[in-house]
Amino acid sequence: AATRTFSIIKPDATRRNLTGAVTKMLEDAGLRVVASKRIQMTREQAEGFYGVHRERPFFADLVAFMTSGPVVVQVLEGEDAVARNREVMGATNPENAAEGTIRKTYAESIEANSVHGSDSAENAKIEIDFFFKPEEIVG
Ligand code: CMP
Repeated sequence: AATRTFSIIKPDATRRNLTGAVTKMLEDAGLRVVASKRIQMTREQAEGFYGVHRERPFFADLVAFMTSGPVVVQVLEGEDAVARNREVMGATNPENAAEGTIRKTYAESIEANSVHGSDSAENAKIEIDFFFKPEEIVG
């Protein structure tokens, strides 16, 4: 059955006008954009969204980066959406990402790595609910 995941096109990608190019790679991977909005994340949103990383040494930099420019938050739908999205994103660090993945193709660094995707179905639900009201998602 079709499931959903949550995706962010990060500031390094929006800055380089790659919103369409990244979305095309998601669509070509069998995912459908069922909700999408371009937002400027506030510091409070970024800190809340990445709350699980609060104790990590990169947390302050991560929050600064994610609020450094517009992002596009999306809900993606498809068969096995979480796994499919993780496959097309590639490894967090672009140095370790496979050929043909979004991060291998576009990411600048482990921080400016162009996309975020949920790592589990449970987190997908939490992350979708963080940014979208039910009526903003049209399947
Ligand atoms: P993301 O999937 O958005 O979740 C947390 C983000 O922290 C991750 O992608 C990376 O872009 C960023 N990050 C920065 N430094 C590191 C690091 N050393 N290890 C893991 N993630 C990092």
